[in-house]
Amino acid sequence: MPHTQIELHAYPTTSQTLAGCAAFMATKIAQAIAQRGIARITLAGGGTPKALYDLLARPPHADLVNWAQVEFYFGDERAVPQTHPDSNFASAQTHLFTPLGIAPAQIFPMISAPMQPLQLEAARYQNQLERWSPSAVPVFDFILNGMGDDGHFASLFPDTMALAIQDRWAVANPVPQHHTERLTLTYPVFEAARTVCFLVTGAAKHPAFSALTHTNNLSPTAHLVQNRRTDWFVDEACRNGLAQGQNTPAFKEGT
Ligand code: 6PG
Repeated sequence: MPHTQIELHAYPTTSQTLAGCAAFMATKIAQAIAQRGIARITLAGGGTPKALYDLLARPPHADLVNWAQVEFYFGDERAVPQTHPDSNFASAQTHLFTPLGIAPAQIFPMISAPMQPLQLEAARYQNQLERWSPSAVPVFDFILNGMGDDGHFASLFPDTMALAIQDRWAVANPVPQHHTERLTLTYPVFEAARTVCFLVTGAAKHPAFSALTHTNNLSPTAHLVQNRRTDWFVDEACRNGLAQGQNTPAFKEGT
């Protein structure tokens, strides 16, 4: 069985976890720029990263990165317009791009304005990735992921079509369990990235987190962590399944 390579950065509270993740992300982005003159990253959607983006968008973390050298992509996107409250792009725009004054040319939303049919949006995103990676899987410098309580990440949900795709990097993925269709990057992209970072907090995620190392765990996230190194920023509630402040065993602060 492949060895699970989880680099755990665990903290007692959610705010400490967010601060640790912001410092890690800013450092990795700055290193990529120093080494190659550019950092290509993908952002996660959902609720958890909003507070992380707020931290990244102001000192001290904002001062660690030359943001003009960063290209911002997305790991997945909902089938909604850019202005919709459920849009991952809209969330990043509000919490990161606007406060940092990021130029639109540095931002690569998965959904166009106006929104096109999802298959066309997937083909367009594939082409955008092929512009800088014409003959191989695109290698991002930093990928930020969240994880759902069912063990999905990005929009690679359990038992969905996109999980098996190896020859395309961006696809439209029907998600019947949520009666929807999403855009998502595919496994090869997540497996190829220089750094894959998960930010997962709260007791609701404890079952999925604690099951990652179970050999018979076939969740999309378990598959990824069993095939490459991943860095995890988690709070005590996620790691131990306990509400913050409950009596818990001695707890090693995150590194
Ligand atoms: C999305 C995300 C998704 C998210 C998880 C966790 O588009 O919703 O990409 O994979 O990271 O569902 O979401 P929360 O952070 O809201 O728990």
